[in-house]
Amino acid sequence: MNLVILGAPGSGKGTQAARIAEREKIRHISTGDLLRDAVARGTGIGKRVAGIMTAGQLVPDDIVLNLLRETLANAAERKRFNGWILDGYPRTARQAEALEDVLGKTGDTIDAVIYIELDPEVVVNRLSNRRTCVSCKAVYHLVNNPPAVEGTCDACGGKIVLRDDDKPETIRKRLEVYKKETLPILSLYEKHHTVHRVDGSKPIEEVTSDIAGLIGV
Ligand code: AP5
Repeated sequence: MNLVILGAPGSGKGTQAARIAEREKIRHISTGDLLRDAVARGTGIGKRVAGIMTAGQLVPDDIVLNLLRETLANAAERKRFNGWILDGYPRTARQAEALEDVLGKTGDTIDAVIYIELDPEVVVNRLSNRRTCVSCKAVYHLVNNPPAVEGTCDACGGKIVLRDDDKPETIRKRLEVYKKETLPILSLYEKHHTVHRVDGSKPIEEVTSDIAGLIGV
């Protein structure tokens, strides 16, 4: 099963994508995580994109597309998993078109698109309280989903930190960019795919079970 999950920054895409991936034994592909990993490893790409990400802007389409193309084509991972859930891609109309080209080559199709709806005010609260594990990328919320031990990841014992782009001024920039560049993709997808709208204001477990019900798993 191949899924795309869309929604504003902080709407819960990463949280839900990880839960659905684990439940369905499919691969969670987050372009944000791929890029953050490149930054953490100090690769050439990482050096090019670090400042762009900290400013809350979109990384150029060709960079993200190359990373995604490599990731989707990885033969070992394709054998290991029976599908994927794409989180954070596409973000522009051009990325959506490019994805169709890539899928034409890998022979994959998108089975469903999930769109998480959430009020922008809630987004700001969620992102400023989000903490992320530097090692395994597990995501926490200081109030709604705190780790058992402050500052330490429940899953791997890694250190949990505030993401560089989760500062209030950057959150506002990311929301602006989302509205201008990414939101228009929704109507494009509604023309060509089944788009399931989900209420992202419910508790995490309820959102997961709503998604599972809508996609029939
Ligand atoms: P990316 O990492 O994709 O960030 P994003 O889309 O801005 O989304 P977030 O990760 O901030 O939020 P989320 O929706 O996953 O929410 P989460 O589940 O964590 O991208 C980062 C940057 O990389 C971009 O700005 C750009 O520069 C670059 N980039 C990435 N992809 C790109 C692309 N394709 N093209 C160009 N540039 C790209 O949840 C948020 C918080 O809320 C957490 O604390 C969580 O615990 C909590 N929470 C989640 N669900 C609930 C709930 N139901 N109830 C209560 N709390 C909840």
